[in-house]
Amino acid sequence: MLMYCVKTLLGLLALSTTAGAFEDSVTDYAPSVNVLCPDLATTEFVREWTASNQTINPNEAEYVQARINSTIAQAWNDWVDDGTQLGYNTTSFQGNFPKIGIAIPGGGLRAAQFGAAVLSGIDARNDSAKNAGTGGLLQVSSYLSGLSGGSWITGSLFFNNFPTLGELVFGNGNNLTGWLLDIAFATPDGDDVFSEYNQYFFGSILWSVMAKANTGIDTSITDPWARMISYHFLNQTNRQNFFTNDTAHGAGELWSSIPTIPAWQQYEMPFPILVTDSRPQGLNTTTALPLDPTVYEITPFEFASYDPDLSAGVNLTFAGTPMTNKKPVNATACVTGFDQAGFMMGTSASLFNQILDFAHNTLQGFSQSDGNGLLYVLSRQLSEVSTRADDVANWPNPFNGVKTATYDDANSTWLSLIDGASNGENIPLGPLFVKTRALDVIVTLDGSADDPNNWPNGTGMLFTEERLSSILEASHQQMPPLPQNAQAFVDTGARERATFFGCDPTQNPPEYPLVIYIPNMPPFNGDEPAANTGTFQLQYTPKQQQVLFDQIHNNTISGFVPNTNNADPNFGKCLQCAAVDRARYKISPVINRSNFCQTCFTQYCFNPQNPPSLSEVPNRKQLFVDPDPQGLANFLSENKNKLIGGVVGLVVFIALLIGGLIWWKKRRDQQFVAQYHQVSALHEEEELNLKRYSQYVRPESYEMSTHYESLHSPLSPRH
Ligand SMILES: *[C@@H]1O[C@H](CO)[C@@H](O)[C@H](O)[C@H]1NC(C)=O
Ligand SMILES: *[C@@H]1O[C@H](CO)[C@@H](O)[C@H](O)[C@H]1NC(C)=O
Ligand SMILES: *[C@@H]1O[C@H](CO)[C@@H](O)[C@H](O)[C@H]1NC(C)=O
Ligand SMILES: *[C@@H]1O[C@H](CO)[C@@H](O)[C@H](O)[C@H]1NC(C)=O
Ligand SMILES: *[C@@H]1O[C@H](CO)[C@@H](O)[C@H](O)[C@H]1NC(C)=O
Ligand SMILES: *[C@@H]1O[C@H](CO)[C@@H](O)[C@H](O)[C@H]1NC(C)=O
Ligand SMILES: *[C@@H]1O[C@H](CO)[C@@H](O)[C@H](O)[C@H]1NC(C)=O
Ligand SMILES: *[C@@H]1O[C@H](CO)[C@@H](O)[C@H](O)[C@H]1NC(C)=O
Ligand SMILES: *[C@@H]1O[C@H](CO)[C@@H](O)[C@H](O)[C@H]1NC(C)=O
Ligand SMILES: *[C@@H]1O[C@H](CO)[C@@H](O)[C@H](O)[C@H]1NC(C)=O
Ligand SMILES: *[C@@H]1O[C@H](CO)[C@@H](O)[C@H](O)[C@H]1NC(C)=O
Ligand SMILES: *[C@@H]1O[C@H](CO)[C@@H](O)[C@H](O)[C@H]1NC(C)=O
Repeated sequence: MLMYCVKTLLGLLALSTTAGAFEDSVTDYAPSVNVLCPDLATTEFVREWTASNQTINPNEAEYVQARINSTIAQAWNDWVDDGTQLGYNTTSFQGNFPKIGIAIPGGGLRAAQFGAAVLSGIDARNDSAKNAGTGGLLQVSSYLSGLSGGSWITGSLFFNNFPTLGELVFGNGNNLTGWLLDIAFATPDGDDVFSEYNQYFFGSILWSVMAKANTGIDTSITDPWARMISYHFLNQTNRQNFFTNDTAHGAGELWSSIPTIPAWQQYEMPFPILVTDSRPQGLNTTTALPLDPTVYEITPFEFASYDPDLSAGVNLTFAGTPMTNKKPVNATACVTGFDQAGFMMGTSASLFNQILDFAHNTLQGFSQSDGNGLLYVLSRQLSEVSTRADDVANWPNPFNGVKTATYDDANSTWLSLIDGASNGENIPLGPLFVKTRALDVIVTLDGSADDPNNWPNGTGMLFTEERLSSILEASHQQMPPLPQNAQAFVDTGARERATFFGCDPTQNPPEYPLVIYIPNMPPFNGDEPAANTGTFQLQYTPKQQQVLFDQIHNNTISGFVPNTNNADPNFGKCLQCAAVDRARYKISPVINRSNFCQTCFTQYCFNPQNPPSLSEVPNRKQLFVDPDPQGLANFLSENKNKLIGGVVGLVVFIALLIGGLIWWKKRRDQQFVAQYHQVSALHEEEELNLKRYSQYVRPESYEMSTHYESLHSPLSPRH
C-alpha cells in the first residue's frame, strides 16, 4: 500500500511539473514562490497608520477620485437630472454629491443571488429599474463590499467585466454562460461521488490544490472550496468545459489583477472590498466569534485592517510572502499569485470551522444514517491530517512584528482567516464606515437568514452597531439610530420594506452616514415568497433562480405604500432623495430639504421617537413556497433529512479532497520557516496516515489520468 501511494504521488508530481505545457491550466492556482523581491530599500510592503491619522492606499484614493471625477459625475446627472423632480436644483450642490458605498451580505447562494437581484434593481442599465427611478444608484456608488456569498457576486461582477446582472447570473447565450447554479457545487454529476464525471471534477480540483501544496504553502479545506466557487462565479467555465481540463476554470485570475479589467479601466465599477474574519492564535473556538478578533479587508491593492489595534495593510501582490517586521524574511523568496480570486472569495466564505462543528453536533441526532457515518469519518480525518488548521484559510501573517503593543496576532506567523460573518456581522459594513473613506450614504443589503423562515431581522447590523461603538470608535463612523433589537426590527416592519436610517443628524458634518436598508423580504404584492431559501442550498433549478431573482428585483424597485400591497410610484424618486440628501449639508448655508423629499422621508425614514409599525406592511407571506416543486432544490430544501443530505454531499466531497490532501500534508514543522519545504520531504510520509486514508477512500479515485482530448459533457441545460 505504501509503495502504491508513493508511486501515485510521484506520478502526480510528474504531471504537475509538466503543467506548464498547458497555456491555461488549473495548476495556475499555485502561487509563485522564491520570486526575487523588489528592492527592500525602496519598496514598502506594509503600510501603517493610526486610528487618529488614517490613510487609505494611494492607488485606492486615486481610483475612487478618478471615478468620481469621470463616470460618477455623469451618472448623477443621468439619474437625478437637474433635481427638479425632487424639488432641488442640483447646481446649488456645487458638485458636492454624496459618496456612496454598497454592502452585500453573506448567506451562501441565496445571498449571492439576492445581491445580484438588488443590484439589478438599482442599475441604470436595467430598463425596469431605470423606469422606476431606482436604476442609477449603482452607477453613482464609489464602493462595493461583499462577504461570504456576497463576495461571490462581487468577484463575479468584476471578473466578468461588469455585465448587467441578468446576464451575469443567467448568461447571454454568447460569451457569458451564467452561474450554472443548476449544477450542484459539490457533486456536479449527481450524488454518486464515484461517478466518472464527478471523479473528473474532483481530479481537476485536486490537481489545482496540490499544485499549490506542492509549493510548500499550507492548504486547507478552503482551497478546494475556492476552486468550486471559481467554477461558478469566475469567467472560464461553461457547460461544455465543466468536467474538462481545457480551461483553468479561473485558476491564475488574481484579485490584484482587477485593475487590468477593461471595465475598471473605464472607471465603470465601484471599488470592491471583501471582508474576512480571523481566529486569533490560541483561540480555537468553532462557534461564533466574539467581536474583538481582528476583522480584515481585501481590496485589489491591499490586505488590510482598519481596526485601531492593527491599522496596517500589505501590498496584496505579496500577501503570501513570509514577512516579519514589515519585510520579507528572505529577499529572494517572495511569493506572488497567492491572491487567487477564488481563494479570496473562498477565504471570505470559509465557514468550515463552524460547519464542521455543526456537522459534529448534528452527529448525535442522526447516528443511524449513512450520512452520519460520513460525517464521523470526516471529523476523524480532519483531526488526523491537521497540520496547522485544516478548517480555515491559511495565510502567512504579513503583520508579524507589527503593532506589537496592540495587535493580537503580532507574534503569529500564520493567520487563520474565516468567513467574514463569523463574528455575527453578516453585512460587510466595517470597511464602509472607515472614517477616512468618508462615506455619506451606505446602502445596506441584508439577506441574512435570521428567523426560522430565513428572513433577516437586523441582527447582523446590530452586531456591527455594537462593534463600531465598542471597538472601532476611534477609527470608524458610528451607526445611526436603529431599532433597539431584533424584535424591534420585526415589530416596526423595518425588515420588510426599504428603510432609511439616520435621516436627521443633529450635527454638521453629520455624526453618522445615512443608511439605506434593503432587506430580503416577502414580495410587497402578497405573492408567495421564493427568495428565502436556505444558506446551505447548493443547487437551484433555472426556474427557482428566475423567480427568486424577479421577486427581489421587483421588491427593490417598488418600495411600499403603507397599509397596502401596492408599489409606490414615487419610490425611485424617494431613493434619489435619500442618495442626495447629505449634499445639502456640504453647502453653506445648508440647503433645506425639499417638500417632496420630506414627504418621502416621513414614509421611509426610521424615526426612533416615532417608529413605524408592522401593520404598515400587511399581507406579507413569510413561508417559502418552491416555485419549481419538481426541481432539485425542492429535494434539498423542503425536506429536512434531505437538506442534511445536501450538506452531506458537500461533506463527502470535502472528505475526498481531504483524503487526497493527506499525501501533501505531513505534520509539518509549525514553526515559522523562511524557506519553503521541498515536496520531496513528503517521502517521509508516515505509513499510519496512508493506512487511515485508504480505509476511507478508494485510492484509485485520485489517480490523475492523462488529459482527455474530447469529452462528451453530460451537462445540457435542464429546464
Ligand atoms: C532564500 O531563498 C532562496 C530561494 O530563493 C534559498 O535558496 C535560500 O536558501 C533562502 N535563504 C535563507 C536564509 O533561507
Ligand atoms: C498623518 O500621517 C501622515 C502619513 O503617515 C503624515 O505625513 C502626517 O504627518 C500625519 N499627521 C499627523 C497630524 O500626525
Ligand atoms: C479630480 O478632479 C479634481 C478637481 O477637478 C482634481 O483636482 C483632481 O486632480 C482630480 N482627481 C483625479 C484622480 O482625477
Ligand atoms: C439651477 O440653478 C442655476 C444656477 O443658479 C440656473 O442657471 C438654472 O437655471 C437652475 N435650473 C433650474 C431648473 O431652475
Ligand atoms: C462579452 O462580449 C461583449 C461584447 O462583445 C463584451 O463587451 C464583453 O466585455 C464580453 N464579456 C466578457 C466577460 O468577455
Ligand atoms: C483533469 O486532470 C486531473 C488531474 O490529472 C484528472 O484527475 C481529471 O480526471 C482530468 N479531467 C479530465 C476530464 O481529463
Ligand atoms: C476572464 O477574465 C480574465 C480577467 O479579466 C480575462 O483575462 C480573460 O480574458 C477572461 N476570459 C474569458 C474567457 O472571458
Ligand atoms: C483549545 O486550545 C487549548 C490550548 O490552546 C487546548 O487546551 C484545548 O484542548 C483546545 N480545544 C479544542 C476544542 O481543540
Ligand atoms: C505592490 O507592489 C508592486 C511591485 O512592487 C507594485 O507594482 C504595486 O504598485 C504595489 N501595489 C500597491 C498597492 O502599492
Ligand atoms: C509577543 O511576544 C512578546 C515577546 O515574547 C511578548 O512580550 C508580547 O506580549 C507578545 N504579544 C502578544 C500580542 O502576544
Ligand atoms: C433574530 O435572528 C437571530 C439569529 O440571527 C435569532 O437568534 C433571533 O431569535 C431572532 N430574533 C427574532 C426576534 O426574530
Ligand atoms: C414583477 O413585476 C412585474 C411587473 O409588475 C410582474 O409582471 C411580474 O410578475 C413580477 N414578477 C415577480 C416574480 O413577482
